Amino acid sequence: MTAVDAPPPTAPPPTPAPSTAGPGVQLRTSTRDDLPAIARLGGRAFHWMLSAEDVEHYGRELFDPGNYVLAQEGTELVGATGGYDFAVRMPGGAALPAKGVTWVSVAATHRRRGILRSLMREQHRRMIADGLALSLLTASEAGIYGRFGYGPATVRHAVRVTRPGTTFRADVPDPSGVRYAETDEMRALAPPLHARWHATTPGALDRSAGWWATLLADKPDKRGGDSALYHLVHADGYVSYRIAEADGGRVCRVVDLVAVSRDAYIALWRVLLGLDLLSAVTAEVAPDDALPHLLTDPRRVRTEGRYDGVWARVLDVPAALSARTYGTELDVVLEVDDPFLGRGGRFRLRGGPDGAVCEPASAPPHVRLGVAALGSLLFGGFRASSLARAALVGAADPKVLRRIDTAFTAEREPEYGTDF
Ligand SMILES: CC(C)(COP(=O)(O)OP(=O)(O)OC[C@H]1O[C@@H](n2cnc3c(N)ncnc32)[C@H](O)[C@@H]1OP(=O)(O)O)[C@@H](O)C(=O)NCCC(=O)NCCS
Repeated sequence: MTAVDAPPPTAPPPTPAPSTAGPGVQLRTSTRDDLPAIARLGGRAFHWMLSAEDVEHYGRELFDPGNYVLAQEGTELVGATGGYDFAVRMPGGAALPAKGVTWVSVAATHRRRGILRSLMREQHRRMIADGLALSLLTASEAGIYGRFGYGPATVRHAVRVTRPGTTFRADVPDPSGVRYAETDEMRALAPPLHARWHATTPGALDRSAGWWATLLADKPDKRGGDSALYHLVHADGYVSYRIAEADGGRVCRVVDLVAVSRDAYIALWRVLLGLDLLSAVTAEVAPDDALPHLLTDPRRVRTEGRYDGVWARVLDVPAALSARTYGTELDVVLEVDDPFLGRGGRFRLRGGPDGAVCEPASAPPHVRLGVAALGSLLFGGFRASSLARAALVGAADPKVLRRIDTAFTAEREPEYGTDF
């Protein structure tokens, strides 16, 4: 491989110093008593207001005060960033602890004076001090997080399957084995099926009991005018959906579909597309979803939108890159740029299908990239050669990019599964 021109190697990155938020604004860790004020701040920022009952539910099921950094001016809460603890599945099967950044909000009266920047710096400093290699988030606006080292890491397609008249290929099996389940039953049935899906899906987040309690609460005011949840279960999967009044008729909206075997996938879709009196079924799927291939007319599955899914922020390059396997043998020196946290440097990655070693290096790099681009590559959701065409990855030798494309591609397209 040909090396690109390179400056001398950098020293191992230090943990950043604690942050401040500018004159009059203090940063501190949340306590449980802060939750009502955090909920008010978030409600104003995102334009929804949580009821007292919602706040109580959140406090019981999902709120971990130690994961929240607050910005306070006098007695007023003016900014917050929160976090969830996840185990994210890496290509090859390892589970890596990761923080899921959430509830990012700054009061509209205090915007564009650096409060978010200082909150992000402090929250990430704490993650690094805790030894985390990876942070994740889902972005309300895609223009915010690149500067903090996050890159989109998974992609989801919003698809609409028109019906009636949608038919499966004659040779597609009809595995059956699907039955309806009530929401109460799903509290026991769904978590083990989801855990099996999490074990085999790169990018997948685990779901704690608090997440299940939240997702299956199915409160009428959280349905956006759609029906209560319906559930179909199979020995190897399940689907939860709602019925919506739309297009002058009715549409099935898939909320959550998990299938860990081909039979479960086909059986669940057969029932969904067999639902009478509906004009369409909508779902969010991975870009390589198999449904079009099952149908006599693949155009019945129309992609109506393409969205970024989870965003990844590498905090410890060697730990993150050695936590996954690679589709082919790879030995490459990467120069990673990380202006926000200074966690970049030069690293040699030697990996393959059985595992990987990544360590600081001094040899000239083959590839240069920002830490956000590294996040985009991490689960195999994007190709290095595509990022190179966008000037996000640089390599003197195109063969290196091809090799990285092949090596970083995961066993299947990554999906994260839980919006947070
Ligand atoms: C997004 C939000 C948290 C920004 O807070 P803030 O304190 O005004 O942000 P800062 O002043 O610290 O800005 C930090 C950087 O982000 C940029 N930025 C802030 N909001 C942005 C936006 N909506 N789109 C693009 N860039 C943005 C700033 O220009 C600044 O850039 P720079 O430091 O590279 O020059 C705040 O506007 C908010 O609460 N919005 C509503 C809720 C929301 O969308 N939260 C994000 C959820 S994922």
